[in-house]
Amino acid sequence: MSLAPVTIAGTGSYLPERILTNAELEKIVDTTDEWITSRTGIKERRIAAEGEFTSDMATKAAKKALEQAKIKAEDLELIIVATITPDTLTPATACYVQDNLEARKAIAFDISAACSGFLYAMELAKNMIGAGSVSNALIVGAEKLSAFTNWEDRNTCVLFGDGAGAAVLRKSEEGEGRILATEIGTDGAQTSILNIPGGGSAMPITEANAGDKLSSLSMLGKEVFKQAVRRMKDAAIKVVDESGLTSEDIAQVIPHQANLRIIDAIADRLDIDNDKVFVNLHKYGNTSAAAVAIALDEAARSGKFKRGENIVCVVFGAGLTWAAAAIEW
Ligand code: ACO
Repeated sequence: MSLAPVTIAGTGSYLPERILTNAELEKIVDTTDEWITSRTGIKERRIAAEGEFTSDMATKAAKKALEQAKIKAEDLELIIVATITPDTLTPATACYVQDNLEARKAIAFDISAACSGFLYAMELAKNMIGAGSVSNALIVGAEKLSAFTNWEDRNTCVLFGDGAGAAVLRKSEEGEGRILATEIGTDGAQTSILNIPGGGSAMPITEANAGDKLSSLSMLGKEVFKQAVRRMKDAAIKVVDESGLTSEDIAQVIPHQANLRIIDAIADRLDIDNDKVFVNLHKYGNTSAAAVAIALDEAARSGKFKRGENIVCVVFGAGLTWAAAAIEW
């Protein structure tokens, strides 16, 4: 079945006000600004206020994307929130967002694909719009990782931050840009190298284990690093080839914002100049599903690419999961 082309009509993002610097982290765990900067590129991250939930950040990002897309919330037909830090295990965070936006017509659900979630959501929305099941969609990557961080573990607490990014998709009209190619993948044999072990049905939080910080992110950083470079490179090359583009045709690559060394390695493998690769992780750290969504919005609004130019988004996360999208903007 051939699918109708789909365009990104608007983007938005939201970052909480509170900035947590590396210098402040030096007072919390045994670390240094020098270690964090040289190993990751991160200088600071944002932390949601008490009482500010994933759905609140998602809603703020969504409103900006809807405004730019000139689509009213009441006309939305689909809302997908990608998150690993939902407000509640059930109902889905997307349901709270639907209510906040008063988008009464929209079906709403979450997907859990960690840092890859926003591009998984893009793939789903693109196919549903393309097949005619819905005429538009709001996709959001939103995370309150600060609520799932072990603030005593220097291996992880220096890496993550909070925030949300959103995009509104609809059918592409004559002369508009479109999503050219997408690629998504999963390797479930590697669940153990990056996960939140507790808080699910496999290991509920009980009185006996409450002190063990089991509902915090745990990661074998080196293993994840190696896999991230390989999977993101392969996925990006696949969508570039499938779209019939070459690296010269790409105005900007928007990668997952986890580690500057991973981003540099990918730029190198793709033979793309560093100035064509968007980086904002020094300001926000790794915001998981929100990262590529926030980066896409910031890059678009700051004029890193224009309508008609080609971009490539590429991500990697727990699962393991990975995804890429080539987009004519
Ligand atoms: N401050 C100081 N020292 C530290 C810190 C810290 N914050 N954290 C770790 N160290 C120490 C370690 O204990 C280790 O010490 P040791 O050699 O005495 O044991 C040493 O630094 C080196 O640790 P490495 O693990 O070798 O550091 P590495 O260079 O691999 O960097 C990092 C670690 C930044 C985590 C890197 O591996 C990485 O970025 N991995 C990928 C993360 C990622 O991409 N995640 C994506 C998905 S996230 C998601 O899905 C939610």
